[in-house]
Amino acid sequence: MRKILGILFAFALAAQAQPLREAAKERGIRIGAAAASGYLNERDYTDALAGEFNQLQPENDLKWATVHPGRTAYNFKPADALVDFAQAHDMAVRGHTLLWHQSNPSWLEKGSWTSAELSEILSDHIRTVVSHYAGKLYGWDVVNEAFNDDGTLRESIWYNKPGIDLSGTGYIEQAFRWARAADAKALLFYNDYGAEGLNAKSDAVYRMVRDFRARGVPIDGVGLQAHFTKSGVSLSALESNIARLTALGLQVQITELDVRLPVNGAGRASDADLAVQAKLYGDLTRVCLKFALCTAVQTWGLTDKHSWIPGFFPGFGAGLPLDASYNRKPAHAAMRESLLKSPPSTPATVANAASYDTSAVAAGEIVTIFGANYGPATLADAQPDARVYFDGLPGPILYALVNQASVVVPAGVAGRRTTELTYEYRGLRSGPVTLQVAPSAPGIFTLDGSGAGQAAALNPDDSINSPANPAPRGSVVALFATGAGAGIELPVSANLGEILYAGAPPGQVEGLFQVNVRLAPGLSQGPANVILSVGPGRSQAGVTVSVK
Ligand code: XIL
Repeated sequence: MRKILGILFAFALAAQAQPLREAAKERGIRIGAAAASGYLNERDYTDALAGEFNQLQPENDLKWATVHPGRTAYNFKPADALVDFAQAHDMAVRGHTLLWHQSNPSWLEKGSWTSAELSEILSDHIRTVVSHYAGKLYGWDVVNEAFNDDGTLRESIWYNKPGIDLSGTGYIEQAFRWARAADAKALLFYNDYGAEGLNAKSDAVYRMVRDFRARGVPIDGVGLQAHFTKSGVSLSALESNIARLTALGLQVQITELDVRLPVNGAGRASDADLAVQAKLYGDLTRVCLKFALCTAVQTWGLTDKHSWIPGFFPGFGAGLPLDASYNRKPAHAAMRESLLKSPPSTPATVANAASYDTSAVAAGEIVTIFGANYGPATLADAQPDARVYFDGLPGPILYALVNQASVVVPAGVAGRRTTELTYEYRGLRSGPVTLQVAPSAPGIFTLDGSGAGQAAALNPDDSINSPANPAPRGSVVALFATGAGAGIELPVSANLGEILYAGAPPGQVEGLFQVNVRLAPGLSQGPANVILSVGPGRSQAGVTVSVK
């Protein structure tokens, strides 16, 4: 009997589902929820918020109406309470929002401002609020919902009524510039609804952010709200949209996910609808996980007990992953399933491990691949369950971590024009990325690992070369590089002097090559720019050896 109970008990424990934030741990993605300070005294609420999520965003507490109740009055108390809660529970915080056509206080709405005054008010607001939270919030929805569904700019006090007197998207750009000035580190997002797939609005958002990127306007990402009905969104359109946004180097985050369902008088949805909703939650999470730069999935609230939906969409409700009694719904299980079972993301960047050059790879080169779900959260002793393939040829893995892995391009890639890389972790394979192949792609390792500045080099006495420990002219220094091409058979030369040795350092990591250079007697004292040529390839500019 005891044995049976033991087995049943063990089964019950195993069946007890893992919280979302646990499932997200090794995914390199944040799982968030919009939260309200007003519910922080509700035990079930705080347990679920901190238990399930590793990110929160104030649902209303950072909107103008709350945070800026008078022209010179700011009220940070409610949002501060949420930030304190997040810090106590190891949760990241996003801010929402600095510029919106809604939730503006009546002192602002009812005043008759000149454009110059409005500009002053907005810049003061952004400076004051963003700097109050600098170092505490990792990102901001700087501008919210500035476009109409047809892709034209929405009329608002900030744009044209009377506006801050900047034409087109100029007022949006200005808000981003003020936000960056107030907090150089926070990630700055543009956020909107109905722009998840491909349509006039998402095209307009795309054009704006592409222009911002091209002109160096400080923007780091786009928030896709994802307030859905059970008809959801075309997953292929969503994927195409995330692909074009992330191709600009921008992050994408799902920021306000909910899936509203028709409900009865008691607020209940049908089981069939809950299943449709669950599929959508799971699909959306899975699509996001395909992209290393899709960095968060956040729901707009956590429990159907406290959701904006019934108030804004009469007859609808039940949109969130927890029901009104905080029980996990099928949507919760579907998200968790996607977090646990989606493959690693398609590689975002494949770079020379020494120089970070991304133009081409060469056989035998050590490359660093940036992605998501590429290995454990911290370096494990045991070799993680990771594999990399170039056109199906396996390459050695030097290390694998959640967001990056270092691997060696296999020798068999030599002579090809391009190669297709896929990455595998725990038996699941990423989408492919096509890379150019070159005969060589030399990069010199640098002392601080940045790819620039002082080279990682040894003086004749085996001490580390540095400005404080320069090598004498005429002496031989050893440089370390990668990307010499298969078998290191190409001719190697250096601008600083004669090469005495070029080849694999004995007993070292695969892919590494060492070059011993005699520093020309005519060199001047100080940092000397060093360039290695290997066949047709040249190493990166900006690397120095210290000479005396
Ligand atoms: C909603 C809140 O959930 C409500 O509590 C509030 O009354 C109105 O705003 N898009 C957004 C959010 O960007 O700020 C909105 O939040 C929902 C739609």
